[in-house]
Amino acid sequence: MNAPVRSRLQVTLSAPPPPPPGFRPFTVADVPALAALMWDAYRGTPDEADVRDVQGGVREIHLTMAGEYGTFLPDASFVADHDGRPVGGALVTLYRDIPLLAFLFTAPSHAGRGLGQGLVQAVMHALAAQGHDVLTLAVTRRNRRARRLYDRLGFIETA
Ligand SMILES: CC(C)(COP(=O)(O)OP(=O)(O)OC[C@H]1O[C@@H](n2cnc3c(N)ncnc32)[C@H](O)[C@@H]1OP(=O)(O)O)[C@@H](O)C(=O)NCCC(=O)NCCS
Repeated sequence: MNAPVRSRLQVTLSAPPPPPPGFRPFTVADVPALAALMWDAYRGTPDEADVRDVQGGVREIHLTMAGEYGTFLPDASFVADHDGRPVGGALVTLYRDIPLLAFLFTAPSHAGRGLGQGLVQAVMHALAAQGHDVLTLAVTRRNRRARRLYDRLGFIETA
């Protein structure tokens, strides 16, 4: 299969949304649950090959924390819990001095309830409070669901 075509998106943080309730910063203890959740979310989507399986989720989270996609920003990375377990996550790095939303995922069992949007809003609020001006990301063109979410939040295509 051909590599997916990706667009680069960016949003300015000059007027960030208020912090939505119900999200908490990432902790290292979240890694096993988030890895399983990541695969659950990405499987069957246009970006499935980015993760591949649960072990791939572990690998990607460890690579993110180790700086493979830029310096990991745990204080700007958020988790959504339900009944004491993670059901959504947003992992953020600082890539070439610019914040990058490296991964965003919601458990299919909790999709369509605003968790994805809330996670990105929590990220935007935290980054603005830390003095950052913009948030960037790369999204696969065919990933319509993610693109609609980013559109709603005011992201624009830069490349
Ligand atoms: C993309 C992704 C994170 C979206 O997560 P989500 O939690 O379902 O996102 P939201 O609930 O905020 O928004 C999704 C839809 O739910 C709707 N929605 C939001 N809040 C809602 C609510 N309270 N009640 C009902 N529907 C709601 C939104 O309008 C949106 O509808 P649309 O897709 O028709 O525009 C999720 O599908 C996912 O994990 N995908 C796989 C990984 C991926 O592709 N990540 C992005 C890589 S760049």
